[in-house]
Amino acid sequence: MSAGNRILIRGGKVVNEDSSFLADVYVEDGLIQAVGSDLSLPQLGRVIDATGKLVLPGGIDTHTHMQFPFMGYQAVDDFYHGTKAAVAGGTTMILDFVVPHKGDSLLENYNKWRNWADPKVCCDYSFHVAVTWWSAKVKDEMEILVKEKGVNSFKMFMAYKDVFMLSDDELYYAFCRCKELGAIAQVHAENGHLIAEGAKKILSKGITGPEGHELCRPEEVEAEATQRAITIASCINCPLYIVHVMSKSAANVIASARREGKVVFGEPIAAGLGTDGTHYWDEDWRKAAGYVMGPPLRPDPTTPGYLMDLLANGDLTLTGTDNCTFNACQKAAGKDDFTKIPNGVNGVEDRMSIIWEKGVHSGKMDENRFVAVTSTNAAKIFNLYPRKGKIAQGSDADIVIWDPSAVRTISAKTHHQAVDFNIFEGMVCHGVPVVTISRGKVVYEDGILHVVPGDGKHIPRKPFAEYVFKRIRQRDEVCQPTPVQRKPYQGKVMPQCSTATPPHDGRDLHQ
Ligand code: URP
Ligand code: ZN
Ligand code: ZN
Repeated sequence: MSAGNRILIRGGKVVNEDSSFLADVYVEDGLIQAVGSDLSLPQLGRVIDATGKLVLPGGIDTHTHMQFPFMGYQAVDDFYHGTKAAVAGGTTMILDFVVPHKGDSLLENYNKWRNWADPKVCCDYSFHVAVTWWSAKVKDEMEILVKEKGVNSFKMFMAYKDVFMLSDDELYYAFCRCKELGAIAQVHAENGHLIAEGAKKILSKGITGPEGHELCRPEEVEAEATQRAITIASCINCPLYIVHVMSKSAANVIASARREGKVVFGEPIAAGLGTDGTHYWDEDWRKAAGYVMGPPLRPDPTTPGYLMDLLANGDLTLTGTDNCTFNACQKAAGKDDFTKIPNGVNGVEDRMSIIWEKGVHSGKMDENRFVAVTSTNAAKIFNLYPRKGKIAQGSDADIVIWDPSAVRTISAKTHHQAVDFNIFEGMVCHGVPVVTISRGKVVYEDGILHVVPGDGKHIPRKPFAEYVFKRIRQRDEVCQPTPVQRKPYQGKVMPQCSTATPPHDGRDLHQ
């Protein structure tokens, strides 16, 4: 065994979702072997001094689209560039999406996406699978994906009419199937019909620029779909996960559903927490187009702060990025028509710093809540906990040494992503990852990457995560409607009863 397999992180403050404490962390063979005071290296190995720093569970980005073929173009951050950037930002696991076209096999697409990812990933990863059409085959393949391929989450689109969108009855069937299989149903909540009509209307007014993207899908289009998805899921007691919550109205819908006791989770993303939709009105077309994503960022500039408040108080649960990046020349496909601008923004590298800056540095949340919303809650919902999302003996050694007082300025000129634009350009963030360890290997240190493509592993996930399904199971057991016990009805029944007798003129009204 080489000494490189052993790392002692000395003198840092370990931060988990429930507590912070000074401790050393000993790592060997990809696992955390010990957490405690005054640990020493049993054999040759490396000591990393973490005095004055925080030792955090690596971030889990719940929502990425690396090299996604979408709207005629392929996202430029592939599984290599995307995961390289992830570790540079303190994220050690991504959950990406397999998105089949309507009519296509979920399984074949899952295999295709695995072949794309496996040789390139620089950190661990797993897949959600999108259900974009409904049939007996889809239903069967969902079972194979859950039982044999380690998938425990399916995304359903309520937008992208005629491309990925499901109808309400299809949503109902897909949710039922998710619940049966112990998978979590995820929705992209926007009303695709209203967007399609809204886009025609806005274009007819001569508005062709990126501002049209937001104008044809205002907040209520997101809030309505969020409410509709929650209503459908609630009818079948199915847990629900709303991806990329972008507006105050949609967040409020989720917050009130949670207050009514519904099992629903909301995922804001780095973009929505760190910036806003006023940029769609920027006079520089390229800049404005750089922010185009769906649902859009909101022009109400109080939105990011509001979403952060809800993330801090528990109304929203965890964070992703929806990292799906297109270069200027790809975005330019929509230079004369905003509906043709490929949708998507960056975030995978900057999520941790944005949430630290806007959440922790601002005083809205403490370091423990930071760990919960960037790592632990994802691990719990997607059944990875405590393997991921915790600094504890036996957990994977996915660790970030975080300097809370260091500062960095975000820029496309210095980021590690392939994309030529950064929606957080010029933002100054406290909270900098100084060392990232991915399953026991130092993959990033003091600004230098040490990644090997293919070193990341696909992590299969089991169904029926306790964090999600415990309440669901109990409700199914005790909250079933029961019939009222009555004495049998003894009176007359049609056609014997008097109202059934024909009128005096002898006409039979039933003919
Ligand atoms: O604009 C976005 N969000 N692009 C990726 C696809 C999706 O809807 O998540
Ligand atoms: Zn989406
Ligand atoms: Zn997405």
